[in-house]
Amino acid sequence: MPITRRAFAASLAATPLLAQSDGAPLKSRIKIDSERTIAPIDPKIYGNFAEHLGRCIEGGIFDEGSPLSDKQGYRQDVREAVKGLNVSLLRWPGGNFASNYDWRDGIGPRDKRPARLEMAWHTVEDNRFGTHEFLNYCEELSIEPYICVNLGTGTWDQAQSWVEYCNLEGGTAMTDLRKRNGRTKPWKVKYWSLGNEMDGPWQMGHRSAEDYGKFALEAAKLMKWTDPDIHLVAAGSSNFNAGADWTGWNRTVLDHLRHHADYLSLHTYVGNRANDYYEFMASSLELDARTRVAEGIIRESLTSEPRSRKIYIAWDEWNVWYRARGQGREVGRRILEEHYNLEDALVVATMLNTFVNNAHIVKIANMAQLVNVIAPIFTDEKRLYLQTIYYPLQLFATNSHGTALELFKEGPTYKTKSYDEVPYLDSSAVNNNGNLVLNLVNRHRDQPMDVTVQLEDRKFSGTANAVEVNGPDIKAVNDFGETKVSATKRDAQAAGSTLRIRLAPHSYTMVKAATTSL
Ligand code: AHR
Repeated sequence: MPITRRAFAASLAATPLLAQSDGAPLKSRIKIDSERTIAPIDPKIYGNFAEHLGRCIEGGIFDEGSPLSDKQGYRQDVREAVKGLNVSLLRWPGGNFASNYDWRDGIGPRDKRPARLEMAWHTVEDNRFGTHEFLNYCEELSIEPYICVNLGTGTWDQAQSWVEYCNLEGGTAMTDLRKRNGRTKPWKVKYWSLGNEMDGPWQMGHRSAEDYGKFALEAAKLMKWTDPDIHLVAAGSSNFNAGADWTGWNRTVLDHLRHHADYLSLHTYVGNRANDYYEFMASSLELDARTRVAEGIIRESLTSEPRSRKIYIAWDEWNVWYRARGQGREVGRRILEEHYNLEDALVVATMLNTFVNNAHIVKIANMAQLVNVIAPIFTDEKRLYLQTIYYPLQLFATNSHGTALELFKEGPTYKTKSYDEVPYLDSSAVNNNGNLVLNLVNRHRDQPMDVTVQLEDRKFSGTANAVEVNGPDIKAVNDFGETKVSATKRDAQAAGSTLRIRLAPHSYTMVKAATTSL
């Protein structure tokens, strides 16, 4: 029997919306009016990233000579795990690597390609995985490719000719070269970024915002004149260190690029160095704040442009990354190999909620990275396992498609060193063709939470399916042959316009329920 709205409100009013210390369930409520929407969700927010770094490509995606690889050298078990993630957009070849990469080294017969000194990660690049290997992989997996050009040590000419090689039908020396290299049809790569993290002193070819803006503008012109259908991503701020003027960087870059850029790239990595669970669990509040500030800067830069001119945000590197992190002098093959625990997976779910809740402006997001290097998939020579962070990304990328919904939320909050009011419940909701998809994170470490979801203008029809990502404790990690954190089916009750679910402590739950109009 559905409860009346008055009875529902009264039942909540009788319950203090404060964290109780007796282990009793917390209570939160959500109200949803399906006509109050945020925006359509761009599937490209479920993107990923593959850099020539450590064992991401070599020993991850691509492992020539391995019994697990196909004739082309792609690891087949990795390919299956990548398919399971529903990757929408794959960024390549870096990252910092991109800022010293000459794409012309990575085409033609593999055995004839030059080995080059690689200065981002202090190694030698053998160039056996290049443009064809990347684009053919994306094509086979129906993933949209996204290429980052070298605006560090690279030239305008290199950037332009890469677009020509990949996207034009024929009739030029570049397209003839592509055909001689075995590819007749162009790949038509739509998404290109104008360099990587050019605001960081660690970047090869780092410049001031003014110098980068001017340089990138000329590259952008040549690239768009080569193929007007491409979408360009300007290198916005990645340097949020104290003293870095990240808002100023974005403003200046957009001053130069506002007529050519379609997206502003932002990067963020969060971590729990201080081992402060509740502070770490609030990381997505900072992501949300930066998104809103960047949106304001974009709006300001477009003040005198036609209202139809849009620039969106591309969070094209984001993740938890703090353990396997040196001081920029990482050496060797096994670098940036984070082993993720449950609390990392919960933070990942809250970051994905933030992208969904900002669906009107965040149109690209790439978890960094795909395999081994700060990644959801982890391999050795013989096996792989799925890290904890694989599960929330997979659930979002599989189910949270459609229109992001605005929510009325009420529930208990907590304070941390940096934040005054952090809701214990972090949430997003999506209308996926009449199915309501809810993403609910209970940030409380020890207490369950009873969540009541009230639909204002629709009712539930049929059963609600819930899947929970959880594990024995917040520090639980997965390993080869040992899955402590994964996704398991749960119960949820939906009747009339009300859905009730009890969330376990420290958990992420995805609920999917069919609805019809009242
Ligand atoms: O993803 C790892 C590195 O982090 C990337 O190469 C760089 O862009 C960022 O600093």
